Amino acid sequence: MSLEQSSWPSSSICLSAASFDVESLAGRVYQRTCRMDFSEPGFCLVDAGRSLDSVSFRRLMVDLKQAMARIHESVRGPTLSYLSAARFDQQTTTRPHLDGGPPECFLMLGYEPTEVDSELEISDYAKCAFDLGLSPQEFMARHNPMFHAGYELLRPYATRIPCFSKTAFQIVCINNSSAPLSRESLAWQGTLHTATILTPDESQRRVINSTMIASVPIGTPDLVTEAQQQEFIHTSVVRRKGYDKTHLDDDQ
Ligand SMILES: [Fe+2]
Repeated sequence: MSLEQSSWPSSSICLSAASFDVESLAGRVYQRTCRMDFSEPGFCLVDAGRSLDSVSFRRLMVDLKQAMARIHESVRGPTLSYLSAARFDQQTTTRPHLDGGPPECFLMLGYEPTEVDSELEISDYAKCAFDLGLSPQEFMARHNPMFHAGYELLRPYATRIPCFSKTAFQIVCINNSSAPLSRESLAWQGTLHTATILTPDESQRRVINSTMIASVPIGTPDLVTEAQQQEFIHTSVVRRKGYDKTHLDDDQ
């Protein structure tokens, strides 16, 4: 696989919420994120603009997840359930990693406008593993990109999200699966994510509305209850990662 083939163009990953209603937006996000082979990126970004407020933005995230659940039910039978939904101030640079979750899951991350510059990069570790004749889990065991050799191996499979901007509300969906590619049982094919914080600033916030979503049998009650989803939409609380900011007036 060449560098050119593995780095996805903007047209494959960047969407504008203003161009679509939620149903057709969900179809586009589902196609790009919930891939079962390597013909799609496994991630995408939805630009929701600058004119909405945080609560409306989080409501859009929940509406998008519900519309994607309806698509998932019609395409595959199971539905989608939240495994977690919380708000974080995150200003730590990370190596390429998978968030802890079941074999088939994806992240829906809602980035709010901030003064803090950062970049997001997605690495197609499932494709890299496949090219090496390994399952995604074997790849992580043998070539974990937290270490230099694995990182170098994975580099040709990385795409920096070109439309990621600090000035807009943006939803980034990332396939976070570890299921292997198999002819017998089709499954989501995952990616790793990396955040590079270019200008960390303790006096500023970088708020991420962070949700993890999994495929579950239809009829399974959502693990994040309806009341907890309403709390996620309406709360002003932002959890801190690594340090307190008691000098900021919305810190609780
Ligand atoms: Fe993560």
